[in-house]
Amino acid sequence: MTTPDVGPSVRMDERIAELRRRLERHQQTYLLRFLPQLGADERATLVGQLEAIDFDQLAQLAAAGAHDTPDAASLVPAPYVPAPPDGPDESTSHHRAAGETLVRSGAVAVLTVAGGQGTRLGWDGPKGTYPATVVTGKPLFRCFAEQILAAGKKYERPIPWLIMTSPANHAATQAFFDDNNFFGLCRTDVLMFSQAMLPSLDAQSGALLLEERDRIALNPDGHGGSLRALASSGALDELQTRGVRHISYVQIDNPLVRVIDPVFLGLHADDAGSSGRMSSKMVEKTDPAEKVGVFTRHDGRTMVIEYSDLPPALAEARDDAGRLRFRAGSIAVHIIATDFVAELTRDRAFALPFHRALKRVPFLDATGLRVEPDTPNAIKFETFVFDALPLAGDSIVLETRRDNEFAPIKNAQGADSPATSHQLQSDRAGRWLEAHGVTIPRDADGHVMAKIEISPLTALEPADLVAVDLPKKVEVGAEVAL
Ligand code: UTP
Repeated sequence: MTTPDVGPSVRMDERIAELRRRLERHQQTYLLRFLPQLGADERATLVGQLEAIDFDQLAQLAAAGAHDTPDAASLVPAPYVPAPPDGPDESTSHHRAAGETLVRSGAVAVLTVAGGQGTRLGWDGPKGTYPATVVTGKPLFRCFAEQILAAGKKYERPIPWLIMTSPANHAATQAFFDDNNFFGLCRTDVLMFSQAMLPSLDAQSGALLLEERDRIALNPDGHGGSLRALASSGALDELQTRGVRHISYVQIDNPLVRVIDPVFLGLHADDAGSSGRMSSKMVEKTDPAEKVGVFTRHDGRTMVIEYSDLPPALAEARDDAGRLRFRAGSIAVHIIATDFVAELTRDRAFALPFHRALKRVPFLDATGLRVEPDTPNAIKFETFVFDALPLAGDSIVLETRRDNEFAPIKNAQGADSPATSHQLQSDRAGRWLEAHGVTIPRDADGHVMAKIEISPLTALEPADLVAVDLPKKVEVGAEVAL
């Protein structure tokens, strides 16, 4: 028996009829109101988008309300491994040797999450293309690429680099890497994959929003989506085939972050207090109002409580020495075992909870006019990677100095902006040079009064500068790039 030949327009009509029935069940047929005005390609775009939506899941998310936060009274500060001089010494610690062995044997990859929308910075393009360094204006992607290149040379083993994009910036990210010849990295060692998107919902009615006549408004599903996308994209299988057991997880917005840290790797993989599944880095929070999550313990499990969920009484509580009790601020740096990612993503029901955020999302009104809201009008749903911590069992939190590896670029101005990041970059570079006898000008607050940039290809850590020809002195206002 032969199947009758069904033309593409008949098949599209059938798909639309089926879609309309689904949308009726969820009271969302208005999403098809511009369909008669669309051309064939636009129709296919809208229908494809709507077919991919799990309306039952969305209805559950919308009905679920805010995620549960543990009762504040039951929270205690998470213990952490202090930074030197009280913690493991950078050069002599046995953890360093264990971490270096892992890198040398090819058991470590880097994951940079770069799928965010970067709305606060307001940069036109993927955030990784933002010129971030203080003297030469290197883009963020290059800051990471040079570290990975330098670490690969130092440990005589190329390090795979995973980059999570979103469907909104994937093509632009790929083009940037092509234009820059992958920054000298081997193309097969750079694995890009896209995270999933979820519809944004009108905050009042819970309805989906049309961004264009042929497109609904979608947002990336949060940095927690990286775990699921690692698995669904096939990147996790690829890592496991290559023998990678640990993923160094970092965010695109921090040009100072150390992407390969042997001491941290060694602690994570080898320490008696670690399950080897997921570890984290923290910096000491000194201002109770600083907008970073804090590491806490609840029911014996380590977890990050977002700053907005930490009651002021806890955020401001101090210990006998006058330091904040909840001072372990998360800088979104983790090591995650590939086996743990496989465990979390084995079932269709992904283990991480959804958080909701109110955002400004432009949309088309009933007549097709574009509305640019002045105030947040839509709910977006996201998962956060740190929500995997309570599922990881014993988990290490390692302290690092703020001026060593936390100079985020989030906002165009003010806190966590290019200006604050530039100062921190010069402060760290100045400290590295001072360790080798270079005279550095500093102001009354201890900030370096010059612009200094040290490429990771010159030095990954202060000790590497021993082989470099250094100036005796840096003058006030000078610009030095090494
Ligand atoms: P942020 O929370 O700073 O969000 O992301 P953002 O989208 O970059 O910026 P705003 O809030 O719109 O201004 C922290 C890190 O997580 C990544 C970002 O790219 C950044 O590296 N991220 C965030 C994703 O990869 N996907 C997401 O869905 C959200």
